[in-house]
Amino acid sequence: MEPPDIKQNIDLKRLNTFGISVSADKYLDVNGADELSGYVKSGSISPENVFILGGGSNVLFLNSPSGIVLKMDIQGIRQISENADSVFIKAGAGVVWHDLVNYAISRNLGGIENLSLIPGSCGAAPMQNIGAYGVELEQVFEELEAVNLNTGKTDTFRSEDCDFGYRQSVFKHELKGIYAITSITLRLSKKPEFNISYGAIQETLDEMDIPENKLSVKDVSDAVIAIRRSKLPDPKETGNAGSFFKNPVVPDEVYQNILKEFPEAPGYPAGEGFTKVPAGWLIEKCGWKGKRSQNAGTWHKQALVIINYGGATGREIYDFAMEIKSSVSQRFGISLTPEVNIIE
Ligand code: FAD
Ligand code: EPU
Repeated sequence: MEPPDIKQNIDLKRLNTFGISVSADKYLDVNGADELSGYVKSGSISPENVFILGGGSNVLFLNSPSGIVLKMDIQGIRQISENADSVFIKAGAGVVWHDLVNYAISRNLGGIENLSLIPGSCGAAPMQNIGAYGVELEQVFEELEAVNLNTGKTDTFRSEDCDFGYRQSVFKHELKGIYAITSITLRLSKKPEFNISYGAIQETLDEMDIPENKLSVKDVSDAVIAIRRSKLPDPKETGNAGSFFKNPVVPDEVYQNILKEFPEAPGYPAGEGFTKVPAGWLIEKCGWKGKRSQNAGTWHKQALVIINYGGATGREIYDFAMEIKSSVSQRFGISLTPEVNIIE
């Protein structure tokens, strides 16, 4: 039997930041873990007949999702415990990520200020181990709860169970589609230690005239927000899903070859013998920055961000992305992998 509050034919255009016009034949707001677990146990929901949706800021719909769209709307942020150094904060999957960041800032709790303004929900944050400005979710992650869509049981995952990596977790791979994450618990610091060495944070703080001995969690957040606003398009104005591809990690020899031709090419150490090369740089060097093809294009300030000029289909965005991928592969011999979840 289907859940009673299922809605029919819901337009998803405003529920994905690419602004792709697709619709959900069936759509269910999930407001609690027990409710979801009940639907699984009664046989109306299983991994085969649902698509899980958070804030829609990391998906590209090529078609309307089949089955029931489960919109994870579980709310609530609360402190569950503390010790001398840390406070443990639990947030429902449907809490907007940046609202959680603001909750931390208002209590001067450190750890997620560098992750300010990342769009999307708390429930999706562990999916790709969100990261920005030298910090990744796993650094503050304590545990999450998720409903197993095969059994209806709620399981708890600690960090070691999640197989976190750069833009990856077990939920994006082996357990893809099996678990609906219902809450996350983070370990935030009462004695914040700031991570301001990455990118332009220090420079921006200097411009803001903030002396290092007076630095607060809010200052670092403000600096990160200023940098992000200067580079990234606001999805409310221009459809996009942030970085379309991951930054490729290549053997050092490959990077050394790039350096021979472009001595200024950026690269970051990525473990013994490997270098992470910014995909945005590779894409720009192939001449794609600010280019437009019909309704798809790359952002003029950040070539790694593919944008919807309005009215693009998911397929149009995808085909444009694949042209970029093949041009980077031909020019540099490097294969780019999408970061965005492609929904076929
Ligand atoms: P959605 O897009 O709704 O879903 C993403 C995937 O997770 C889908 O496969 C979906 O099925 C699954 N999913 C969603 N919720 C759940 C759940 N509760 N349980 C199980 N599965 C679930 N990301 C970064 O890491 N760093 C950045 O700096 C960054 N900057 C961005 C900037 C812009 C302008 C935009 C538009 C995106 C950016 N992103 C960034 C990507 C995006 O914000 C994150 O991936 C975010 O965590 C996605 O959250 P969401 O709720 O929108 O997920
Ligand atoms: N660059 C170019 N041309 C471009 C874009 C970038 O030359 O068009 C160069 C920059 O000059 C810089 C380097 O590439 O030297 C890195 O650029 P940037 O600092 O903008 O970061 P990024 O590597 O493109 C990554 C994440 C972002 C995250 C930022 C900040 C990935 C795939 N992307 O972008 O995450 O916000 O770092 O930490 O790792 C996202 O995941 O959606 C996302 C936006």
